[in-house]
Amino acid sequence: MTTTQSGPSRSTVANRTTIASRLWHPFSSLHDTLASEISIVEGKGAQVRDSDGNWYLDATAGLWYANVGHGQLSIATAIAEQAGRLAAYSTFGNLVNPAAAELAERLAELAPMPDPMVFLTSGGSDAVDTAVKIARRYWTLRGEPDRSIVISRESSYHGMHGHGTSLAGIAANAAGYGNTTAPGFVRVPHDDAGALRRAIERLGAEQVAAFFVEPIIGAGGVHPPVSGYLREVAGICRQHGVLLVVDEVVTGFGRTADWFASVSYGLEPDLLLFAKGVTSGYVPLGGVIAARGVWEVFADAAAGMFRHGYTYSGHAVACAAATANLRLLVEHELLDRVAVLADDLATGLSALTVLPGVREVRTAGLLAAVALRTAEDPTLPDRVVRHARAAGVLTRVINGDSLQISPAFVLTDEELGQLVERLGEAIDQAVSDQ
Ligand SMILES: Cc1ncc(COP(=O)(O)O)c(C=O)c1O
Repeated sequence: MTTTQSGPSRSTVANRTTIASRLWHPFSSLHDTLASEISIVEGKGAQVRDSDGNWYLDATAGLWYANVGHGQLSIATAIAEQAGRLAAYSTFGNLVNPAAAELAERLAELAPMPDPMVFLTSGGSDAVDTAVKIARRYWTLRGEPDRSIVISRESSYHGMHGHGTSLAGIAANAAGYGNTTAPGFVRVPHDDAGALRRAIERLGAEQVAAFFVEPIIGAGGVHPPVSGYLREVAGICRQHGVLLVVDEVVTGFGRTADWFASVSYGLEPDLLLFAKGVTSGYVPLGGVIAARGVWEVFADAAAGMFRHGYTYSGHAVACAAATANLRLLVEHELLDRVAVLADDLATGLSALTVLPGVREVRTAGLLAAVALRTAEDPTLPDRVVRHARAAGVLTRVINGDSLQISPAFVLTDEELGQLVERLGEAIDQAVSDQ
């Protein structure tokens, strides 16, 4: 490494911090990460260890993905065996590999709609953009090419690709990139079924391709749906022929103690998006599960080629990891465990609402947000996160004011107690050091 180059060379970095890498961190201030990083080197169950040997309770399961917890050797073995046999091969055209076929079959069994097909991607953002294309092409194939508007919700998060950025309703994520809402995308307030109905009527149903919805808003702050909302919007979509696209990237694979939140809330999506928990993050993977009514339009001889896909669609190692992960969820009865943990977490966190720094606690399944009183103290959440880290809990701020709580399903009762206790202490400390 030379020291003559300009910019944040390693020597500059070294002057500013004890550990700083060349990694440009996602969703972070480069200024701040050049000054300080925490290097995570190992994980076991619901805990991770840093390079200084400190263990942390992983309150967020990575980024809502480590459902079965860290360090599961059966997944590591499945990955190694598959990589040794065939790491990957294209699935373009009529090529397939046994790992991709097996996973698609398993996902079809678990899906909340009968007789679906599964389109595989490299992650959640790919799944979102794929779904927009499937929805629009579906209508083109049905002879209604003008039916291309996609409706989504305020506060929603649908990944960071082009279509996902247009769909998403978190303004801060779109600021400063020019006009990120492409034509053909419309947002409505969340949890207001009437607003969806009015938008469809205003735009004309014959212009609207699909409605995208996270069953529980995740990155936008963990907002469970208001009672009856999801069934009502599903009914509005059916009535107007609008495709119902349920983004289960966060909620899929057990977060709500069902395989999908669509089951928990009685939805039958036309398209269901998944990623994260499908492999518990051991290898990146995502996809779209398409209901029969959608895919059979593409199966018509006249439909021709669906010109969309990714190099790693059907990546054999990722698929083997997913199948091993789904097996583990069953073998360890982790959906049942989520049902127990969800109740205990809600009870534990509700005790925090008496703290002066806490505004409210929102929970749904094994997902929660502790919303802090930021009106008079906007830096409170960041200070809480720092105190929590010092106390051995890794969490992060979502929606500017809330702490994300979405632990692994293997969290023990003792760890749950520690999590709540340490969070409470961190909140109190942050309030008192203002
Ligand atoms: C609801 C939802 N959709 C899509 C995505 C994008 O997934 P990825 O980050 O894997 O691209 C996320 C990521 O957090 C998400 O929460």
